[in-house]
Amino acid sequence: MIKVENLSKDYLLKKKAPGLSGALKGLVKRNYEEIHAVKDLSFSIGEGEIVGFIGPNGAGKSTTIKMMAGILTPTNGSVYINGEDITKHRKEVVRNIGVVFGQRSQLNWDLRLGESFELLKHIYQIQQKDYEATLDVMDEILGIKELVDKPVRQMSLGQRVKGDLVAAMLHSPKVLFLDEPTIGLDVSSKFALRTFIKEINKIKKTTVILTTHDLGDIEELCERLIIINHGVMMEDGNLSQIVDRIAPYKTLVVEYYDEAAPEHARCEMIEHEGNIAKYKFMKQETTAAEIIADLSKEKNIKDVSIEEAGIDDIIKIAYGS
Ligand SMILES: Nc1ncnc2c1ncn2[C@@H]1O[C@H](COP(=O)(O)OP(=O)(O)O)[C@@H](O)[C@H]1O
Ligand SMILES: [Mg+2]
Repeated sequence: MIKVENLSKDYLLKKKAPGLSGALKGLVKRNYEEIHAVKDLSFSIGEGEIVGFIGPNGAGKSTTIKMMAGILTPTNGSVYINGEDITKHRKEVVRNIGVVFGQRSQLNWDLRLGESFELLKHIYQIQQKDYEATLDVMDEILGIKELVDKPVRQMSLGQRVKGDLVAAMLHSPKVLFLDEPTIGLDVSSKFALRTFIKEINKIKKTTVILTTHDLGDIEELCERLIIINHGVMMEDGNLSQIVDRIAPYKTLVVEYYDEAAPEHARCEMIEHEGNIAKYKFMKQETTAAEIIADLSKEKNIKDVSIEEAGIDDIIKIAYGS
């Protein structure tokens, strides 16, 4: 469905020396700084996948999404959507694409939401019956019909994002790019958005590429992650496999009846405070049950719990922090 080959983007930034002399010099000789925002990214995404596109601020996520959506021209490399090169057949290819930027609405602030939808219907030349069918589905998932008479400028952020999602789906795109759609949303809007993604993926087989800083979004939606940093591919794979590979350990938390805590040969005591000790062990080497059995031979144990390495650990480790 999506094929990205050796994709790169350099930005040219005008460097300006400070002060008046700097401004004058700038007239004479332009000084440019090159920013290599995306470096040689290659990956493919199949129909119906939901992929989390993850990385810290400035990693190059939005730049990559803009290139995949045909908004920005790559410095190098190609993007194919459904086999078609986006830079060569842009007009046709964007009909298969929907994009939502959480931080920037594509809706017209001066119109009512429904009027914005009508406008898009004309731009994309959507048949009335298809238009109505899509709105019906969107109404079931997002309750959008009660918002159509509302002027966009009077909408809350949550309502506005719902409006943007529907606007992006009106022409029934095969691929939907969502760049930080949940940013700043309240809990119920976030819930609605996650339901929306799951439903369109199920009903319409829409392929979804999602950037987010919300670990809940990733855990709930994405089987696959692509992690980038400094414009470079760090990880591409199944979420649980990445977790197993980058963080092949668990932490056993043991509460004793007093402050003395025994060591264990096959794991490392990483924390000991008061009556509680934390033991980190490799999943392949031993099990929590084994460690508990050994420790309880030496001391009476009051309580235990196990901390799995989570996605937040993965993100930290993948980013090298
Ligand atoms: N229009 C632009 N002009 C110059 N530099 C840019 C522009 N847009 C983004 N950048 C730079 O490119 C890098 C990647 O940015 P971006 O793709 O927005 O990252 P992310 O979405 O992962 O936070 C950053 O260093 C950013 O400052
Ligand atoms: Mg971004």
